[in-house]
Amino acid sequence: MNKVSFISLILGFALLATACKSGINSKTKVTSATTDNLLDARYKMLLEYPVDSMSMPRSMTIKSDLIKKVPSRDWTSGFFAGNLWQLYRLTGNKKYKEQAEKWTPFSKKESVNSNSHDVGFKVFCSFGEALKVENKQEYKDVIIKGAETLCTRFNAQVGSLRSWDFNKDVWDFPVIIDNMMNLELLFEASKLSGNQKYHDIAVKHANTTLKNQFRADNSCYHVIDYDPNTGAVRKKTTLQGYNDDSVWARGQGWAVYGFTMCYRYTKDPAYLKQAEATAQFFMNNKNLPEDGIPYWDFKDPSIPNSPRDASAAAVMASGLYELYSYTKNKSYLAFADKIIASLSSDKYVLSPNVKAPFILDHSTGNWPKHDEIDEPIIYADYYFLEALLRKSKY
Ligand code: GLY
Repeated sequence: MNKVSFISLILGFALLATACKSGINSKTKVTSATTDNLLDARYKMLLEYPVDSMSMPRSMTIKSDLIKKVPSRDWTSGFFAGNLWQLYRLTGNKKYKEQAEKWTPFSKKESVNSNSHDVGFKVFCSFGEALKVENKQEYKDVIIKGAETLCTRFNAQVGSLRSWDFNKDVWDFPVIIDNMMNLELLFEASKLSGNQKYHDIAVKHANTTLKNQFRADNSCYHVIDYDPNTGAVRKKTTLQGYNDDSVWARGQGWAVYGFTMCYRYTKDPAYLKQAEATAQFFMNNKNLPEDGIPYWDFKDPSIPNSPRDASAAAVMASGLYELYSYTKNKSYLAFADKIIASLSSDKYVLSPNVKAPFILDHSTGNWPKHDEIDEPIIYADYYFLEALLRKSKY
């Protein structure tokens, strides 16, 4: 062996040893030992967060050291359990599984809560992740029950599931682009139960969204309000974007991820076409920063002095890994890798000095309400971990 090969071998062993010590599998290593150590320090903090059914961690105001905790009815409540399940799959460390088993049951009662479309996020991001690890009938039962509950929100005249029940004086039947994400619960429940109804409702919802939610440039509106009696579109509007005609970044991520996921279950090429077109809009946008992490809205006039949204980037990266698996378009893989490299750097990974059960900083929750701006938010971590798991296949 020559000197160069010998040194490479020693360096290789040293990197492997650091990765193993940090608990990260060699297949799910990100870019370097430094990055993996940075992430591993954050992962371990999830184990230290005290188990409490009323205190699902949602976000954090770092300046005041305040963790926002929510009960199971909050739309974000399933993500923490989901993060622990995904960390178990990433690292193989049983402690994450033990902790995930304690948190997951807290979301069970949401499978019968029909107050919003978010039953999909709450049930599938917790019990759906549990099912990927353990093939238990009780997990399947909760998922099927959740799907049944979500279907109570379907209006055949509109051809959609109703997203929200609030703002009744403004909207008659609001459907938001985020709702695409909840269709995974229906598709999966249909497979688990053999009940075609769940699949058919998911397809109807996706088709209605495809017809009405996109602009000519393939960006999407946040909210479409329908007439529940005729199914006519009343208004194309927003709640979380800059204005009705702006392009809310996370919404574009939900659309790309959502239609790619619908293609997984249906093989309908129209879904793949829309996912690709909206991905192109995102990837080629003149207001997208070089590191691939978008400002919270592509049309915020304050850009470049506007907050970023790491969660939008994480959703996009995870969606793009799946989109690549169907299209083999390497630009999706390269773009997802770029996002993951940026999010794994010390610019976006939360400082090790912050003692909190979060991984990433710099997400923006609800800019118009001045709520959760440029903060760690739980769902950014969820889609980041999912993206890492998907990345490990390539
Ligand atoms: N589903 C709500 C959000 O994306 O903020």
